[in-house]
Amino acid sequence: MPIVAVIGGQWGDEGKGHIVDYLASRSQMVIRYGGGNNAGHTVTNEQGVFKLHLIPSGIFDPTIINVIAHGVVIDPGVLIEEIQSLEAKGISTSRLFVSDRAHVIMPYHVMQDQLQEQARGDGKIGTTGRGIGPAYADKVERVGLRAGDLLHEELLLERLRAVLEEKNRVLNRIYGVKPISLHDAYLRFLNYGHQLTNYVTDVHAVIHRALEKDVPVLLEGAQGALLDIDHGTYPYVTSSLPGAAGACQGAGIGPTRLSSVIGVFKAYVTRVGEGPFPTEIHDSPDADMLRQIGKPWAEVGTTTGRLRRVGWFDAVMARYAAEVNGIDTVVITKLDVLDEFQRIKICVGYKRHDELLEYPPMSTALLNKVEPVYEEMPGWNTPTSEVREFHHLPEEAQSYVARLCQLVGARLGIVSVGPERDQIIMVNDVL
Ligand code: IMP
Repeated sequence: MPIVAVIGGQWGDEGKGHIVDYLASRSQMVIRYGGGNNAGHTVTNEQGVFKLHLIPSGIFDPTIINVIAHGVVIDPGVLIEEIQSLEAKGISTSRLFVSDRAHVIMPYHVMQDQLQEQARGDGKIGTTGRGIGPAYADKVERVGLRAGDLLHEELLLERLRAVLEEKNRVLNRIYGVKPISLHDAYLRFLNYGHQLTNYVTDVHAVIHRALEKDVPVLLEGAQGALLDIDHGTYPYVTSSLPGAAGACQGAGIGPTRLSSVIGVFKAYVTRVGEGPFPTEIHDSPDADMLRQIGKPWAEVGTTTGRLRRVGWFDAVMARYAAEVNGIDTVVITKLDVLDEFQRIKICVGYKRHDELLEYPPMSTALLNKVEPVYEEMPGWNTPTSEVREFHHLPEEAQSYVARLCQLVGARLGIVSVGPERDQIIMVNDVL
């Protein structure tokens, strides 16, 4: 049975949640493997419109097992709020399992993230301010608390006491912040533990029992390949592993078990936060058209409400992302956003002085200076959001999608032409 990773091929916000929500009905387990509540997506289905940050998109189908796996960093307050808001709308969370090995985002992580960003001034990364970087840093430094720790009173107190003293010293001496009280933090996180008792468990057993039964499994990515700590546009990246290797690591599934890696790409590109963006279009009518302000799919961040930066499809970055992650299937989302363009540009190379670069250079300074080499294709000037079959799309739209896949170097799986489930056009089977 297929075990498929769905990853973002760009800088996040490609519409992965929308695709996973659709594909979930063909699977029996959805596993979120990395990132935290820096992610966010809107799922629109017959039950309503939902904004999810941590809980996998399979939650809307009562037959699907949903797992928040080891590689995720969890802000328990946010998770509890998400559970409560789903339950309040009649969506059961009884089949949600949270890894006891997943690290917990603590209040000092959120403070550190925001204070460090302020201190960076012009050199800021543009983080979401949710404590993601500091939580992963503590995990690697081996001073993190894990979800399982919240379930054991004594262990929690011992771990908190050990770490809080050091954190308070740093926060107070460097940033002049009032120390966090051990007593208050202990009671608050113990209470979170009580509220999450029925969810936090050893998900290794849950996942591998399902694999033994040979059920179809979806690994749901967050963020995107170009935000990867190793392969992204460092330091303007997140602190996790959003790609296919991260899917295996974060879910505790060996790489030999993956049957396919689906790369989700927008038909153009967006980015939030700072960092290089070679094909960015600055204030112009084209940028306004891509942003779709006022429409349900406007380019505004689900988590932070920030206006997204927009630009043309960057095939240099996309091919690189495909190579790093072994993407074998391409999903193109938001094709309808390009409906009114007369001409559409695709970046097929970068120029630096007289040199043509085939791959993105490692240095941010260099990447900021490359000149995109564009190929132009005719637009289709026809609404596509009502189209339900690939061969009914205007010929120009079909050619555009085919060219993107050719440049990425993988076969086409799905095209989407709007936020509703029925606006997803399955071109080739992906699960
Ligand atoms: P952090 O993950 O909050 O540390 O932010 C680091 C960078 O990743 C910033 O540029 C964020 O805007 C970006 N980022 C993090 N999560 C997402 C996401 O889900 N979508 C898009 N960008 C993201």
